[in-house]
Amino acid sequence: MNSQFSIYNELTMNTKEILLKAQKEGYAIGAFNAANIETLKAITLAAKKLNSPIIIEASKGEVDYIGKTQLVDLIKDYRNELNIPIILNLDHSESFEECEEAVNAGFDYIHFDGSKLPYDENLKIAKEIVKMCHAKGIIVEGEMDHIQGSSADHTKEKPDEVLDKTLYTDPKKAKIFVDETGIDTFAAFFGNLHGLYSTEKRLKLDVLEEIRNLLPNTFLSLHGGSGIDNKDIMTAIKIGKIVKININSEMRVAFKNALKRSLNETSEVAIYKITPGAIEEVQKIVEGKIKLFGSENRAS
Ligand code: G3H
Ligand code: ZN
Repeated sequence: MNSQFSIYNELTMNTKEILLKAQKEGYAIGAFNAANIETLKAITLAAKKLNSPIIIEASKGEVDYIGKTQLVDLIKDYRNELNIPIILNLDHSESFEECEEAVNAGFDYIHFDGSKLPYDENLKIAKEIVKMCHAKGIIVEGEMDHIQGSSADHTKEKPDEVLDKTLYTDPKKAKIFVDETGIDTFAAFFGNLHGLYSTEKRLKLDVLEEIRNLLPNTFLSLHGGSGIDNKDIMTAIKIGKIVKININSEMRVAFKNALKRSLNETSEVAIYKITPGAIEEVQKIVEGKIKLFGSENRAS
C-alpha cells in the first residue's frame, strides 16, 4: 500500500499537523461546503488540479441530505484516489448529540457553534465536546459571538445595513473562552458576515490582530468567506495567521445560476449530462479561492 495513502486515511492526528503546516508556512486552507455529490466533485477536482489541501464542510442540512457515514466514506475514497489532504468537518453544529454522532461516524474536525446559547451553556458544552474529541485526536472549533447573516444571496443589501458591529468579538473575552474550553480553533466575528452582499465585505483587521496576539497558539478560522475584499483576506492570513477560510455562498450562487442556464438550454433528461456546467462553475470558484488563500501546491 502506498504509505502516503495511509497518512491521509488515518487523518485524526494528522488534521493538527495539516493546520500547523498552514500556520507555519503562512497560507489558509479553503473550507468548502459540499451540498451534494456535484459540489463535492467540483471541490475535489479543483484541489487535485492545484495540488492543494482542502477542508470539506458539511452543515446539519448537508449532513442530513447526503448522510454522515456516506460523507465519511466518500471522503475516504477521494483521499485514496487523489492522494491529497482532505479534512472532513461538521460545520456550525449546534448540539452535543450531533457532534457525537459525527465523531462516531468518523469526521476529522468538529465545529461546535454554541454562539446562540447563553455563554455559560456554550462554555459547558464546548468543554464536553473538546473532551470527547481530543480523546480521539479530533480537532474542535468553537464560536462565541454569533457570526451574523446566512450563506445566501443577500445582494439587495449592503453589509453595513445588516452588520451589528457591537457584536464583534472582544479579544480579551475570546482568550478567556479559548482558555476555559480548550478548543483548538476559534471562529471570530469581525466583519465576516455570512453571505453575499451588494458590496464587498470589509474586515476589522485590528480586532483580528489583537485576537492573534492574545491567542498565539490557537488556530483561527474565518467564516463568511464569500465576497470579502481580496486584500483584506490576504492581510487576514498574514497578520492573523488564519488557517481555515469558509466558503459557501459563492458556490451556491454559481451552482444555481449555471444549472438554471443548462436547464433552460437543453431538452436533455439524463441528469449527469445537465450538471457538468454547474460543476465547472463551482470548480472555478474553488480554484480561485485556493490561489487567493495561497494553498496551491501545498498538498505535500
Ligand atoms: O460556515 C460556512 C461559511 O462561513 C460560509 O460563509 O456563505 O459567506 O461563504 P459564506
Ligand atoms: Zn460559517
